[in-house]
Amino acid sequence: MTRVHNFSAGPAVLPESVLLEVQKELIDWHGAGLSVMEMSHRSKEYQSIIDDATATALRLIGCGDNFDVIFLGGGASMQFLMLPLNFCPEDKVANYINTGAWSTSALKEAVKAGKKMHVAASSEDKEFTYIPKTYQLSENPAYLHITTNNTIRGTEYYEIPEVPADVPLVADMSSNFLSRPYDFSKFSLIYAGAQKNIGPAGVTVVFIRKDYQEKLLGNLPTMLDYKTHISKGSMFNTPPCFPIYVVGKVLHWIEDFGGLKEMEKHNKEKAAYVYDILDSSNFYRGTVVKEDRSLMNIPFRLPTEELEAKFISEAKANRMNNLKGHRSVGGCRASLYNSLPMESAKALNSFMKEFEAANK
Ligand SMILES: Cc1ncc(COP(=O)(O)O)c(C=O)c1O
Repeated sequence: MTRVHNFSAGPAVLPESVLLEVQKELIDWHGAGLSVMEMSHRSKEYQSIIDDATATALRLIGCGDNFDVIFLGGGASMQFLMLPLNFCPEDKVANYINTGAWSTSALKEAVKAGKKMHVAASSEDKEFTYIPKTYQLSENPAYLHITTNNTIRGTEYYEIPEVPADVPLVADMSSNFLSRPYDFSKFSLIYAGAQKNIGPAGVTVVFIRKDYQEKLLGNLPTMLDYKTHISKGSMFNTPPCFPIYVVGKVLHWIEDFGGLKEMEKHNKEKAAYVYDILDSSNFYRGTVVKEDRSLMNIPFRLPTEELEAKFISEAKANRMNNLKGHRSVGGCRASLYNSLPMESAKALNSFMKEFEAANK
């Protein structure tokens, strides 16, 4: 078996050890005589799986006692809608820092939900190539929403913005969740689609501070109301059982790796294999400001679009997959999520050097 070096922006590479464990348990989970895919979500076996994933997720953020975590379908995109519906009353304004396409989608959804919306800061003036360092809240803010890592443009928050004590901070952490030790206690609500750093597609984790839950508006369609899912432990309806099971395994893998500090070290080391080249070459060009560049998604350009196409195709022939930039921005992009092995970053580094030498 030869696995590729998978630089996909998501769904993305998973730890091989997790895939092997899943394979081992696929047909007969722990002697239960059936697969997790075939289990009732109401069974005690499945309850133990989701309880374990819940406990591990809360341990990993380091302040889990203050939060509830729920596992939902609908992707991070569903959270774009659920957040304003649940937490922005009529007399308040949903505030957003716009750092790219995903933040733009999030703030548009607040408007579609009929809420007052304010853009507190934006980096759109420079094509989202930096993280705004200041922001201006509206009057009566319901919350301030940030996107901690911008998957398409490749910028990332290193410092979490300070907010006034009465303004809840909310984050879409889909593409850098658990890749570094943020102070999660600063947030009132955090959500992340699993398919980048913590598992397969199909499940989104949502952490909601217990004291913030007092502000839930309620009186919403059942499935769109966070109360429904919190009160039933993500089991109001059939949850994405198999993705949650795999997420639980990836979370253990992160813990066994040494936790978030070790993960950050590993991610920095991997990203340096690409950034060192971008910094030293006249052939490759990074596209975002240095101080805000992401450890997870690294967009870069070559001198011409023809060379970019050649680069992507030759990389693929060398078992390096998914290096094409997002269709909205073009160019190349390497995603180096938690589970990407160091060897993959090293292989890309060597390939980039060889390609430059051959095509300069
Ligand atoms: C930062 C960010 N937020 C939200 C989304 C949308 O996620 P989903 O496809 O799970 O709805 C993505 C997808 O790539 C993303 O990168």
